[in-house]
This record gives sequence, structure tokens and C-alpha cells, in this order.
Amino acid sequence: MVSSLVGQFVCFVFLVVVSISRVRAKQTVFDVTKNGGVADGKTDNSKAFTDAWTQACQTIGGGVILFPTGKYLVRPVILKGECKGPIGLQIEGTLLAPQGVQSSVDIDHWIKFQHVDNLNINGGGLLDGQGPSAWHHNNCLEDPECMRLPANLRFDFVTNLNIDHITSINSKNLHINFFACKDVKVTNVNISAPAESPNTDGIHIGSSSNVQILDSVIATGDDCISFSAGSSKITVSGVHCGPGHGMSIGSLGRGNNNDVSFVDIRNCSFVGTDNGVRIKTWAPSKQGTVSHVYVENIRMEQVKNPIVIDQNYCPARRCSATESSQIQIVDVKMINIWGTSSTPNAVTLKCSETKPCQNIQLRDINLSYKGPEGPAVSACSKVDVITDGKQNPPACTKPVIQVPHNFDVLN
Ligand SMILES: *[C@@H]1O[C@H](CO)[C@@H](O)[C@H](O)[C@H]1NC(C)=O
Ligand SMILES: *[C@@H]1O[C@H](CO)[C@@H](O)[C@H](O)[C@H]1NC(C)=O
Ligand SMILES: *[C@@H]1O[C@H](CO)[C@@H](O)[C@H](O)[C@H]1NC(C)=O
Repeated sequence: MVSSLVGQFVCFVFLVVVSISRVRAKQTVFDVTKNGGVADGKTDNSKAFTDAWTQACQTIGGGVILFPTGKYLVRPVILKGECKGPIGLQIEGTLLAPQGVQSSVDIDHWIKFQHVDNLNINGGGLLDGQGPSAWHHNNCLEDPECMRLPANLRFDFVTNLNIDHITSINSKNLHINFFACKDVKVTNVNISAPAESPNTDGIHIGSSSNVQILDSVIATGDDCISFSAGSSKITVSGVHCGPGHGMSIGSLGRGNNNDVSFVDIRNCSFVGTDNGVRIKTWAPSKQGTVSHVYVENIRMEQVKNPIVIDQNYCPARRCSATESSQIQIVDVKMINIWGTSSTPNAVTLKCSETKPCQNIQLRDINLSYKGPEGPAVSACSKVDVITDGKQNPPACTKPVIQVPHNFDVLN
């Protein structure tokens, strides 16, 4: 009896040990400092990084690449799948991008992941893009042939991606770019760049679906989060934006795919941003549809243009004034949006002449402006707004321009 109990206990201990080592075996750690990496802020660690990546990627059951505390200079790298198991990238230290730009090299990334399934990036560490050394090379407003500066993180064709507890500062261009990704979750991310830094968007999503961005803080010189062509099933919640340009769907209409659908933005705040939530499409444009946009529980504080639909988007003013956008905007709900606007333009809904917006609903809007230019106002064209609850400023009761007869406001 006793011996059989002891036997069972030994057997139990054995099983526990085996299962722990199994878990560990799955999580083989590849520490870059044990692969030639040096945390002195000067030595180039890109080879140590890509070597660790290759080893982790080729390990059956996957592995974790670890950057322990310390400063690691990393030159631009591309980390490719497919891998033989889940990959972790645990950044506990600081990764430093190289200073400045190499004038002959026009690359779009600092750290780029391609064709990876099941990737976890975490560790509480910092990515420093060293943007101040490069931003003066950004002359894209004057020169359409301008050199592209690198994004801190690019993900192309990445699926089952989690990014948690990472700080990204001073990217030379946008901070995080998702292209053709699926099943992405971003949590507790802190992105920051100065208000005046050029094109330092926080998170840009394109051709991607099922993306969640939760509980994060984004302060930049450009869009906080932008949802471009091919974005679908995007959830944003608990995100604080400011400074920057706010959240944007678009600009749409210049590519071949111009569709964005099912964007859900909740429980977010915007402080001192140029826009709050904006949908922008070029005019003229190609065909496309923006549909099922749901925005709820949003606090605005000193935002220049809290709610915007702009279907005549043309920042450089080199567009035709006579041709209109061919993007149909349909089913947009804005619910419980409150706070202050820093200009009277609290609600601006400028829809397409030829594709008037359909089913735009505003419920419980309370945006005030205190200043010399009078109270906050709503301005609309080519849209019949459906309203419910409080409306401050008063909603456009009738469209500025008569809508066509076949325009059904009830659908
Ligand atoms: C985000 O990171 C910046 C730069 O490191 C820091 O100044 C700021 O306090 C951080 N914010 C939060 C909410 O952690
Ligand atoms: C948003 O906030 C409300 C009220 O605080 C809460 O009930 C709800 O669960 C939150 N929604 C999300 C998606 O976080
Ligand atoms: C609207 O906002 C103002 C100030 O921002 C506040 O005093 C007022 O109570 C709000 N009204 C409602 C109905 O929430």
C-alpha cells in the first residue's frame, strides 16, 4: 500500500518534471547575447538577431528570441517564416535603429517580419527608431518622388500575431505597419513621437482582417491609427490618442481595392488631436465601399475636428474640383461622443456628389466649443443624417445640397 503510494508519487513527480521540460523544450530561448550580440549601443546586432531568428524558426516547436536588458544597435533586418513552431520575440532591453539615412538606400523598414504564423512580441522593452536624425530628409509634401524613410515595425503576411507591452518611440516613418495580416492582437503598446514629426503614424492597417488594438497609448505627428484599403473586422478599444491627427479610415480611392468594412472603435480618448474619427476619400477616385463603421463612447478634448467625413480629400490641392469620389460610405454609427472641440467644426460630413452617404447615424453627441468664432456647428453635404438622443451641436436637419430622389434615408 505504502510502496504503491510512493510509487504513484514518484510517478506523479516524474510526470510533472517531464511536462515542465516539455513546456521548456517548446520554449527554447535564443538569447542574442549568447549568439554574438553585444548590448553596448554601438555594435551592430543585426546578424546576432537574424541568426537567433533562423535558429528559433528552424526549431521544431518554435523558440523565443531574447534581448535582455541593455542597448542593442540593430541595422535593418527582415525576419522570414515559415517557421517550425510559434516564435516569441522577448524584448527586455532597448533596440536602437541606426542614425540618419543611407542616402542611396531607400528601404521601407527597420524591423520587418514576413510570412510568419504564430508570433508573439513582448517583454516590456523599447524600440527607438532614432527619428530626429532622419526627419529632415522627409520632403514628401514638396516632392512626390521623395525618399521613403523606414517604419519601425513592418508585418507582411503575418498571421496569429500578438504584440504586448512594447514601447515604440521616434520612428523615422510610421511606427507599426500591418499589410496582409490576419488575426492580430495589439495590447498595452505605447507609441510616441513629437507632434511636429513628419509621417510618424502610430499604427497603419492595410489589406488585413481581424485586428484588435486594445489598451494602448499613441502620441505622434500623424495619424494615431489609420485603416486603409482592405481593412476588415478591426476592433479598437481603450486607446488614447494625442497629439497627432486622430484615427482615419482612408485615404481611399487611389488603389484598386478601396473597401473598408466592420471597423469598431470604442472607449477611446483623443486629446489635442487634429481630428477625432475621420473617413477620407480622394476626389476623383476609383470605386469602393466603406461600410459598418461603429464608433461608441469617445471622449474628445480640444480636438480640432472631432467627427469628419471628407470625400473631397486633397491635401496638396492638386485635384480636380469637378469630379467626385466614387467611394460609397454606408452604415456609419457614432454614439455617445462628448467633450470639447478646439474649433467650431465639431461635426463635418462632406459626402460625394455622385455617391451620397447612406445610413449615417448620430446618437448622443455632446461636443462644445468655447471661443470667439461662436458655438460648435455641424456642416453637411450630400448626406441625410439620422439622429437620436442629444445633439450638440444641433445636427444638420436637412442636407445642404438636395439629395437625389432615389436616396433612401431609412436604409
Ligand atoms: C510612453 O513612452 C514614453 C516614452 O518612453 C513615456 O514618456 C511615457 O511616459 C509612456 N507612457 C505610458 C502611458 O506608459
Ligand atoms: C467600454 O466601456 C464600457 C463602460 O465603461 C464597458 O462597459 C465596456 O465593456 C467597454 N467596452 C470595451 C469593448 O472595452
Ligand atoms: C454636455 O457637455 C457639457 C460640457 O462639456 C456638460 O456640461 C453637459 O452636462 C453635457 N450634457 C449632457 C447631456 O451630457
